[in-house]
Amino acid sequence: MHSFVWHPYTQMNEWPDFDIINQGKGMWLYSTKRKKMLDGVASMWCNVWGHSKTELVDSIIRQSKQLQHSSLFNLTNDKAEALAEKLVKLAPGMHRVFYSDNGSTAMEISAKMALQYWHNIGEKKRKTFVTFENGYHGDTAGSMSLGYVPGFFSIYKPMLFSTIRTPSPISYRVPHGYSYQDYQEFCLEEIENVLKKRHDVAAFVIESGAQVAGGVVIYPPRFQKKISQLCKKYNTLFVLDEIATGFGRLGSMIEYKAQQSMPDIVSFGKMLSGGYIPIAVTLANKKVYDAFLGQYHEMKHFFHGHTFTGNPLACSVSLTNLALYKKNKIISTIQKRALQFSKRIDEISSLDIVGDVRHKGMLMGIDLVSDKKIGRPISPKKKIHQKIFVEARRRGVYLRTLGSIVMLVPPLAISEKELDFLLDTTISTIKGVSKNIGI
Ligand SMILES: Cc1ncc(COP(=O)(O)O)c(C=O)c1O
Repeated sequence: MHSFVWHPYTQMNEWPDFDIINQGKGMWLYSTKRKKMLDGVASMWCNVWGHSKTELVDSIIRQSKQLQHSSLFNLTNDKAEALAEKLVKLAPGMHRVFYSDNGSTAMEISAKMALQYWHNIGEKKRKTFVTFENGYHGDTAGSMSLGYVPGFFSIYKPMLFSTIRTPSPISYRVPHGYSYQDYQEFCLEEIENVLKKRHDVAAFVIESGAQVAGGVVIYPPRFQKKISQLCKKYNTLFVLDEIATGFGRLGSMIEYKAQQSMPDIVSFGKMLSGGYIPIAVTLANKKVYDAFLGQYHEMKHFFHGHTFTGNPLACSVSLTNLALYKKNKIISTIQKRALQFSKRIDEISSLDIVGDVRHKGMLMGIDLVSDKKIGRPISPKKKIHQKIFVEARRRGVYLRTLGSIVMLVPPLAISEKELDFLLDTTISTIKGVSKNIGI
């Protein structure tokens, strides 16, 4: 079939034929060729309950008969109001909700908010952002600047702003001469050095709980809490990205709360609507919000807004989704599933081409290597990303790698049996690929 679609992060030469998915039911995706695949990546980390969940579908149908879209410019709508109230009650310390329709934009918004906060209170020199190495915050220009992954974004450098990057607490391939513990201390010292020396910092911006796209770097206990304290001590804004890690992915509803940290601005997306309709949000505390209040002619208001900001269909399905979180006590189920994941770590780690396995909650990263002793990543020339995908698909699972890291990010409500299938298939896929790859 001739296709007219250009796919994301894809060398189009390499994929002559994509499976055409035309149905989703529960944890399974069905293609036009009637092939079924377990959705091992929650359709890019956003699906919560599986596909075609009756309550979510009904909510969209109900809302679509009532109001499909109406703007937040000079008006509001009942669903955007109800969802904002719910989110402010869920997220400690937050005061107002700014709507957008994808995670990258939500992070773009958080950077603009932080910059304008300082401008509005008269500290106009505070323009610099401090971020982590290996962070990822999305693909728009501001988000690429904040989460600068050199391998992805160096080509776009001319259109990005520069940030100060401090090291993140990697537990694998820790730089020579450090223990993991020492390295954590070093990372915190580096942050403190920057915040102490520089008086132009607008915000410290990181993912909350773990860096996901940057290689599944899970923060050690109390690490984020200490950063939060440092931001307070040096009077800089603390901006968190919970787009991939909030709403249960790491085993908590609000990850910054579990980390005993307190941001000034925080963004959520992906799982907010259960993965059904695009929506993201940026929440700000009262201190930040109040700085935008004034007389119109002072031009302190926030210069940002999109056509679909606060879309009622997206807000309505998000409200239903959050009600299901409560009704189904999903967070306690996640604890059980997380245990199921962790019981398999030794088995996965023992595979020939596995260098490291990192796991928290419903997220697992399996680092594939060509030399286990020194942890050398597999060369992109080996096309491991494609081999893993093809082998897993043959066995009935939709799996993706990030570079040479196999990502397991299933829908949160996956059953015990289906998670076993996902883990078993991942193991047999890695074994199958390692036999054929010739390392
Ligand atoms: C931590 C984080 N922030 C932001 C984004 C960007 O979200 P979106 O793809 O919805 O633009 C992602 C996407 O994977 C992410 O993982």
